[in-house]
Amino acid sequence: MQAVDEKTGSSDRTRGLPPLYSLARKTRYALRQGSRVALYTLHSEAMRRMNRQIQKELPETPKVIPVGPVPSQRCMLTDIVRLFADDMKAVEEGIYPMPSDGTMSPRELLATSRAFFRDAPEVARRRATGAHQEVNDNAGGFAETLPRYYRQNFHFQTDGWMTEDSARLYDFQVDVLFSGATAAMRRRALLPFAEILRRKDQRKIAYLDLACGTGGLLRPALKAFPRLYGTGLDLSEPYLSVARERIRTRRASYVTAMAEELPFADGSLDVVSCIFLFHELPPKVRRQVIAEIARVLKPGGSFLFVDSLQTGDVPDYDGLLSLFPQLFHEPYYTTYLKEDLAGLCKDQGLEQRWMTAAFVSRAAQFVKSA
Ligand SMILES: C[S@@+](CC[C@H](N)C(=O)[O-])C[C@H]1O[C@@H](n2cnc3c(N)ncnc32)[C@H](O)[C@@H]1O
Repeated sequence: MQAVDEKTGSSDRTRGLPPLYSLARKTRYALRQGSRVALYTLHSEAMRRMNRQIQKELPETPKVIPVGPVPSQRCMLTDIVRLFADDMKAVEEGIYPMPSDGTMSPRELLATSRAFFRDAPEVARRRATGAHQEVNDNAGGFAETLPRYYRQNFHFQTDGWMTEDSARLYDFQVDVLFSGATAAMRRRALLPFAEILRRKDQRKIAYLDLACGTGGLLRPALKAFPRLYGTGLDLSEPYLSVARERIRTRRASYVTAMAEELPFADGSLDVVSCIFLFHELPPKVRRQVIAEIARVLKPGGSFLFVDSLQTGDVPDYDGLLSLFPQLFHEPYYTTYLKEDLAGLCKDQGLEQRWMTAAFVSRAAQFVKSA
């Protein structure tokens, strides 16, 4: 039985473990993550081949040109291994439990894989024809209620953020893109989070995961900190509905709202996390969201951020980053790459305390001045 500190909620499961136990855990971790990398790399390769066939019947797409260096496959694999080593270290140190990362039954895996390959030609067609406004053209009931910049087929994905089918495929598609490393990148945010919660009563912490999607961070955060309550906020009802289904704890609640108009009182939250949202926002909205985060945080509260690397974070990746918006519909990504996030946050009273690059992501902590 795992002993949990009554006040802090931290577990002593991992402290003082015999070396053999630790070795067994590392092996389990390596097998699980290794098989994920293999699974998603195989899907990526199969999709590439499929697309080559499909593209013969589609209009020719403009050649994509990197601006800057593009890392080799070997370099990227080395960075993924480094990310996993850091992730495992956090598990060893008891910061969070062994991740289960989208463990699927064989039946579920087969069904999702099939859905992925059924959908891939549609994505290829949109890429070839530049069709990124389908969700707006067929907007139906939501046209009036959602902001215009949001009503697009981001990534050329089917249905954009608008349906449960899209929500069910999203995590798989992202993992194909990031070779199964997505969850480990998100978990970087749990490092400062664990520090914040040290010696605190988790039950008294007001926590919001902004643009929580299907619960990619909310779920591991609530697992890592077993007395924490958290609210997931997103503009997509269907994505929230999938999050609700996947996060089976009463400690989670959900709000459908816009990140730029948060339905929380001034100075009411201790921690706001936000994962993979900022690169999808127009510059003006990005600024509004930062101002809103600063408004709702208590003095001394933290904003935990994970998103794509920016230009210059890891110069060897600059060319790869420049390819992303050419291959996927990412209308605001180019402006994101150059955005001075630390400066924008500082203007709102949020001081950057920590920043790290992990594979293709950057994670940071900003603290509201007391
Ligand atoms: C790339 S996904 C990231 C989801 C999740 N944080 C993750 O780690 O997978 C972007 C999410 O942001 C949501 N979103 C985009 N613009 C938003 C806005 N203005 N307000 C609230 N949610 C928004 C989308 O609905 C989508 O779920």
